[in-house]
Formats: sequence, C-alpha cells, structure tokens
Amino acid sequence: MTIGNVLLLATAAILGLLAIGGNSVKNGGLVNSCAYAGANLTGNHWLGIYCLNNDTAIWGYNYTWINLDNCLANNGGQLISYENGSYSGTCSGCAISHDNTTLHLSCLCWDTNNRQQNSSIDLNTTIYDTNGAAGCFSHMGNLTWEDFPAES
Ligand SMILES: *[C@@H]1O[C@H](CO)[C@@H](O)[C@H](O)[C@H]1NC(C)=O
Ligand SMILES: *[C@@H]1O[C@H](CO)[C@@H](O)[C@H](O)[C@H]1NC(C)=O
Ligand SMILES: *[C@@H]1O[C@H](CO)[C@@H](O)[C@H](O)[C@H]1NC(C)=O
Ligand SMILES: *[C@@H]1O[C@H](CO)[C@@H](O)[C@H](O)[C@H]1NC(C)=O
Ligand SMILES: *[C@@H]1O[C@H](CO)[C@@H](O)[C@H](O)[C@H]1NC(C)=O
Ligand SMILES: *[C@@H]1O[C@H](CO)[C@@H](O)[C@H](O)[C@H]1NC(C)=O
Ligand SMILES: *[C@@H]1O[C@H](CO)[C@@H](O)[C@H](O)[C@H]1NC(C)=O
Ligand SMILES: *[C@@H]1O[C@H](CO)[C@@H](O)[C@H](O)[C@H]1NC(C)=O
Repeated sequence: MTIGNVLLLATAAILGLLAIGGNSVKNGGLVNSCAYAGANLTGNHWLGIYCLNNDTAIWGYNYTWINLDNCLANNGGQLISYENGSYSGTCSGCAISHDNTTLHLSCLCWDTNNRQQNSSIDLNTTIYDTNGAAGCFSHMGNLTWEDFPAES
C-alpha cells in the first residue's frame, strides 16, 4: 500500500464517506459524496455539510451550506421536495438524523386541521453536490473552505 492510498483512506474515514465522487447529480444524491454523518442543521433550515469537490487527486472537499427553504415545502403536514417551498414558515422543531445509508430531516409541520405532524424526508432525494457545493433545483449553496459561516 502506498502512502497516497493510506492518505486517501484516512481522508475517507474522517469524512465518513460510503462512496467516492464529487460529480454533479441534479436529482439528489448528496450521500454519495458528502459527509452526511457530520451534517449540521441550524435555525430549522440551514444545512451545513462537508462535500467532495472535483479536485479528486487530493480528495478535496469544502464545507457547504444551503438554505433548505429553497428545496422543500410543507404539503398538508408532510415535507416534500419542492423548489422555493419555504417549509420553515409552517414547520418547527426540525432536526437531522442519519442511518447508515442516508440523511433525514424531520420537523413538526402544521397540517390543514391545525395539527402538527411529525414529518420526515430523505434529503438524498433532493440535495446534490456540485464540486463541493450543495444544491437543490436551480439553487446552489455557499461554498467555503471549512466551518459554518455566520448565521442569517
Ligand atoms: C441517493 O441518491 C442517488 C441519486 O438519486 C441514488 O443513486 C442513490 O441510490 C441514493 N442513495 C440512497 C442511499 O438512497
Ligand atoms: C452547527 O452550527 C452552528 C452555527 O455555527 C453551531 O452553533 C452549532 O454548534 C453546530 N452544531 C453542531 C452539532 O455542530
Ligand atoms: C471543477 O470543475 C470545474 C469545471 O468542470 C472547473 O472549472 C474547476 O476548476 C474544477 N475545480 C476543481 C477544484 O478542480
Ligand atoms: C425560486 O426562486 C428563485 C429566486 O430566488 C427564482 O429564480 C426561481 O425561478 C424560483 N423557482 C420557482 C420554481 O419558482
Ligand atoms: C419526530 O420523529 C423522529 C423519528 O421518530 C424523532 O427522532 C424526532 O424527535 C421527532 N421530532 C419531534 C419534534 O418530536
Ligand atoms: C450501521 O452499521 C454498523 C456497522 O456495520 C452496524 O453495527 C449498525 O447496526 C448499523 N446501523 C443501522 C441503523 O443499520
Ligand atoms: C452565501 O449565499 C448567500 C445567498 O444565498 C449570499 O448572500 C452570501 O453572500 C453568501 N456568503 C458567502 C460567504 O458566500
Ligand atoms: C474548496 O476546497 C479547496 C480544496 O479542495 C480549496 O482549495 C478551496 O479554497 C475551497 N473553496 C472555497 C471557496 O473555500
């Protein structure tokens, strides 16, 4: 085993990645190239996460953050994939969780009978990684070197 291979394996372990790739997948797929186990959700709708960029020779990655209000809606108490859906206006108590395969967002969302439903959505259906930046639909999240930027 070469030193290069060892470094790659170490980087993979740090990122917790299940697979390699920094390619653009416009219909979701973030779990393929983002370290979803270490994702951060702030203020119910800001998702921060490390994603691989296309600097594959050095396993380059960036910290990216995206406003999930651009990506999801509350449809009668259920979170759905929907551009500019602004779910956080009618959902609260949001949290992210992961299992060994994907990253979920769950929230309490008001339904049409004025009841709060605990709804969950698999973010891999909607969020993609393009060269280290998370995106959904036509929206591209912020790209940084690392760490979560100032809240807004
Ligand atoms: C994540 O999304 C990608 C792209 O749609 C898909 O190929 C892959 O199977 C999904 N992975 C999981 C664990 O759902
Ligand atoms: C998520 O990011 C926010 C904003 O930087 C920070 O205050 C919080 O501690 C982070 N949470 C986790 C679990 O890392
Ligand atoms: C990623 O690819 C784009 C175009 O395909 C290129 O402009 C950019 O320089 C690449 N970035 C890295 C970090 O390799
Ligand atoms: C979503 O909002 C952006 C501007 O923030 C706009 O450019 C885009 O057309 C909107 N998409 C839809 C489907 O309304
Ligand atoms: C919603 O359900 C999930 C999964 O059962 C749970 O982890 C989460 O705590 C619940 N959220 C609230 C706000 O009760
Ligand atoms: C995740 O994978 C680990 C190691 O393979 C296993 O021990 C654990 O039971 C798995 N967890 C789930 C929720 O599948
Ligand atoms: C992040 O994106 C927002 C728009 O979504 C923009 O206003 C802001 O300047 C960006 N911040 C950085 C550090 O790129
Ligand atoms: C993204 O990560 C690369 C290293 O892979 C770094 O050189 C670059 O400056 C980062 N981009 C931003 C916008 O911080």
